[in-house]
Amino acid sequence: MGLLIFLLILTSSSIQTFASKPEANALLKWKTSLVNRNNPRLSSWALAPDNNLTGTINRNTGATLCTWYGVHCDARGNVEKLKLSASRLNGTLDHFTFSSFSSLTHLELNMNNIFGSIPVEIRYLTKLVFLDLSGNQFSGEIPKEIGMLTGLKTLLLNDNKLDGYISQELGNLGNLVKVNMSVNFLKGSIPSSLGNMTKLSELYLFQNNFSGLIPPEIGKLGSLRMLNLDFNDLSGSIPPSLGNLSSLRVLNAYMNKLSGRIPKELGYMKSLTVLRITHNQLTGPIPASLGNLTKLKELDFHENLLSGVIPPEFGKLESLIQLSFSHNEFSGQIPVSLSNLSTLEQLYLNDNQFDGFLPKELGNLNSLVEMILVKNRLNGSIPDSLGNLSKLEQFVLHDNHFSGYLPETISKCEKLKYLTLSNNSMAGPVPKSVCKLRSLQILDLGNNGFSGPVLQCFGNFSHELIVLDLRLNHFQGNVPQTFLNQSNNLRSLNLNGNRLQGSVPGTLINCRNLEVLDLGNNMLTGAFPLWLDTLPELQVLVLRGNKLNGTFHTSNTKTPFPKLRILDLSSNEFTGILPSKYFTNFKAMTGIDRNTPGALYMGGNLSMYEDTIELVVKGLRLELERILVVYTTIDLSVNKFEGEIPNTIGHLTSLRLLNLSHNSLTGQIPNNLRNLKFLESLDLSSNRLVGEIPLPLASLNFLAVVNFSQNQLQGAIPQGGQFNTFENNSFQGNNGLCGFPLTKSCGDDVPFSHIPEGDEDDDSNFFNGFTWESVAIGYGFGMLFGLGIGWLMFYTGRPRWVIRITDREQSRHGRRSRKRACKRNQLSPITNASFSP
Ligand SMILES: *[C@@H]1O[C@H](CO)[C@@H](O)[C@H](O)[C@H]1NC(C)=O
Ligand SMILES: *[C@@H]1O[C@H](CO)[C@@H](O)[C@H](O)[C@H]1NC(C)=O
Ligand SMILES: *[C@@H]1O[C@H](CO)[C@@H](O)[C@H](O)[C@H]1NC(C)=O
Ligand SMILES: *[C@@H]1O[C@H](CO)[C@@H](O)[C@H](O)[C@H]1NC(C)=O
Ligand SMILES: *[C@@H]1O[C@H](CO)[C@@H](O)[C@H](O)[C@H]1NC(C)=O
Ligand SMILES: *[C@@H]1O[C@H](CO)[C@@H](O)[C@H](O)[C@H]1NC(C)=O
Ligand SMILES: *[C@@H]1O[C@H](CO)[C@@H](O)[C@H](O)[C@H]1NC(C)=O
Ligand SMILES: *[C@@H]1O[C@H](CO)[C@@H](O)[C@H](O)[C@H]1NC(C)=O
Ligand SMILES: *[C@@H]1O[C@H](CO)[C@@H](O)[C@H](O)[C@H]1NC(C)=O
Ligand SMILES: *[C@@H]1O[C@H](CO)[C@@H](O)[C@H](O)[C@H]1NC(C)=O
Ligand SMILES: *[C@@H]1O[C@H](CO)[C@@H](O)[C@H](O)[C@H]1NC(C)=O
Ligand SMILES: *[C@@H]1O[C@H](CO)[C@@H](O)[C@H](O)[C@H]1NC(C)=O
Repeated sequence: MGLLIFLLILTSSSIQTFASKPEANALLKWKTSLVNRNNPRLSSWALAPDNNLTGTINRNTGATLCTWYGVHCDARGNVEKLKLSASRLNGTLDHFTFSSFSSLTHLELNMNNIFGSIPVEIRYLTKLVFLDLSGNQFSGEIPKEIGMLTGLKTLLLNDNKLDGYISQELGNLGNLVKVNMSVNFLKGSIPSSLGNMTKLSELYLFQNNFSGLIPPEIGKLGSLRMLNLDFNDLSGSIPPSLGNLSSLRVLNAYMNKLSGRIPKELGYMKSLTVLRITHNQLTGPIPASLGNLTKLKELDFHENLLSGVIPPEFGKLESLIQLSFSHNEFSGQIPVSLSNLSTLEQLYLNDNQFDGFLPKELGNLNSLVEMILVKNRLNGSIPDSLGNLSKLEQFVLHDNHFSGYLPETISKCEKLKYLTLSNNSMAGPVPKSVCKLRSLQILDLGNNGFSGPVLQCFGNFSHELIVLDLRLNHFQGNVPQTFLNQSNNLRSLNLNGNRLQGSVPGTLINCRNLEVLDLGNNMLTGAFPLWLDTLPELQVLVLRGNKLNGTFHTSNTKTPFPKLRILDLSSNEFTGILPSKYFTNFKAMTGIDRNTPGALYMGGNLSMYEDTIELVVKGLRLELERILVVYTTIDLSVNKFEGEIPNTIGHLTSLRLLNLSHNSLTGQIPNNLRNLKFLESLDLSSNRLVGEIPLPLASLNFLAVVNFSQNQLQGAIPQGGQFNTFENNSFQGNNGLCGFPLTKSCGDDVPFSHIPEGDEDDDSNFFNGFTWESVAIGYGFGMLFGLGIGWLMFYTGRPRWVIRITDREQSRHGRRSRKRACKRNQLSPITNASFSP
């Protein structure tokens, strides 16, 4: 009995000791409030069963509490730290009794699923030094009471859903060393009281919706090493006081609305290694004083409105690895002094107005990997010293005014992957030494004055080569016969507009990845290369403007040209009947649903190389720089085809453009042309067609251009629908036709095509108000058709490592809305920078 009483006393006093630990009660109460209170991680959070005499509660210290998961006590048994990172906590802090934790210095709840607001009672944690609530779902405002936690050194609230304004009270936190509030929805201005946090070393505010000015008071943060303001709505100019930040290593203000000039004071930030103020609206020149930033590794001002010249003082930036001034309004010459930058790996000056020549001294940049000078007015010849750039992988110079020969020394750039010189004024033969560039993936020399033979080696080093574009030059001789290796990667071969002779080489059949083959406008002879119909990826085949002849034999291929979308055989000497078998079997042209999910312009607008082909539509030479995924055309015009138009043509239901003009076709226009619901242009002119124009053609809603002229058609022109918009020259030269728009009347019974209701709305969202003029204008503005060549996504204005990070970020975060995700994807937090300060 006495023993029992003793036991009871012992037990109850244990409980009492325990219960007297308010922290334990508080934690248990909070645990009970969680959605997943059975979370196995918190299984240790429990009172010992009161009948368990062997329970290990230490009367004096409440040590059981101190053994609980995540609970760390100080010497006196008070809870000092709660470390509950990534513990799958799901719930709110509403039932968390902050007042019970007067000794708490560390609160780590990051990477959980805690939602709701941050309670104002957090002010009771008066000893708090370290607060990490990042990676949760906290919403609402940051309570100004946090400003009372004056001992706080680290405040991490990043990656939540916090919104509202930051109150000035936070400026009281004079001991703060690190603040991360990135990736929230915080708005309003960045409080000027921040200037009181004189110990602050790291300040991350990126990806919020802060607006207003960068407070000049930030210039008082003499200990600041990292400042990241990326992806906000900050405006006004960069305060000169930032120049006082002599410890600052990284300054990022990517994607804001900063305007005005770059203050020369930034040149005083002598510790700076990264300066990225891209995608803003900065104007005026780059101050020469930035040349004093000798520790700078990355200087990136791309996508601003900066003008003037690159100051020669930049030659002093001896640590520079990346220099990007892309997409600005810079002008003048590339200064010789840049050749001093012996550590430079990336030089991006594209999309400016630089002129003059490429200084031969740039050959000293022996660390250079990428030189991107696209879209400037650079002229003169490419210096021989280029060959000294032995690490060069990207030499991307298209759309400039370069002239002269391609230097022989280029072969010394053995790592070269991209060589693009298209749209310049270069001449002479391509040096044989180019054959030594075994890593070449893109060779784009189009639209220059190059001459001589097409190097045969292009065929057999194509195990790396993806794009060979020599279009619009003066090349002579044969198409290379040397595509012997079946494992080659060639996707685009464009030799259009040269003086090539001979036949289409049979070895092309080894190019199993070929998507675009354009040999148009040469002097090729021989028969149609029937065997091409087995190429599984071929989407675009252009042989127009050659001297190919003969008839189309039926091939034995089961699904010939399975992906072909553009077939242009115009202006050759083909004879015989139209290749009707193909019309039934072009899989890609039959029944593509143009509402298939996915971009209209596959490949996005960020590709290093864009396939460019030229089509002739109604006498207009249209250069299609990017080919719409659903754009399908057949042009067999100006040949000697005869016989009837096969009915099978009605199978090509996704066809946009059909041109059979200038042949010797006979018979009637097939009725089932009406199945070509997306047809925009139909040219059957200058044949020997007879009979009437089928009435149902008037129901083709997208038809913008027709030409039936110079045939032997008869009867009434269909009325209604698009036919009301065609002019009389579409019908001329047919003695038997009558009715609008011709002046010859048909008498009384005018056939009127009934257009079924609903038909008109069908899919009309895309081409609403479509007229041929609007298409032509579309071309004019380069708003062209994107071909599905997604293999070289590249944005010349953006540093490569940003893209790398982008990929990584993408796979890591998936829980924000798409818009947020987009924003995030472009982000490259400085902590991920490829070099540490
Ligand atoms: C009593 O507590 C100890 C220590 O926590 C434990 O190992 C034991 O299983 C418990 N006994 C009962 C009956 O719950
Ligand atoms: C958290 O609990 C809510 C229910 O309130 C549930 O919908 C959600 O899926 C849970 N989240 C996680 C990450 O467990
Ligand atoms: C700051 O927060 C962002 C967003 O959560 C995170 O990606 C980054 O790593 C954090 N940086 C530091 C230094 O804490
Ligand atoms: C903090 O900053 C604000 C605004 O810049 C200023 O008015 C206030 O005096 C500062 N407080 C302290 C303690 O320095
Ligand atoms: C950001 O703030 C601006 C006003 O400054 C507002 O128009 C915009 O909708 C806000 N964006 C988000 C995502 O909250
Ligand atoms: C900070 O910068 C401003 C403007 O450049 C200057 O007037 C001020 O003297 C500087 N303050 C310190 C402490 O260097
Ligand atoms: C910084 O650059 C400017 C302009 O180039 C120069 O006048 C000044 O002396 C430089 N200051 C330092 C500290 O090097
Ligand atoms: C080239 O660099 C050296 C130091 O590396 C420097 O002294 C010199 O001024 C620089 N030249 C130019 C033209 O900037
Ligand atoms: C190159 O451009 C500069 C500046 O526009 C001009 O003065 C020069 O005559 C041009 N040189 C050649 C060879 O076109
Ligand atoms: C750089 O290239 C030029 C021209 O090809 C050559 O004369 C010179 O020796 C090269 N310099 C170095 C350091 O390789
Ligand atoms: C060729 O380059 C010039 C700039 O040098 C540009 O204005 C023009 O549009 C380019 N032409 C084509 C067809 O891209
Ligand atoms: C095709 O043209 C060649 C001359 O280029 C000629 O020798 C041949 O007979 C022609 N073949 C046909 C079928 O017309």
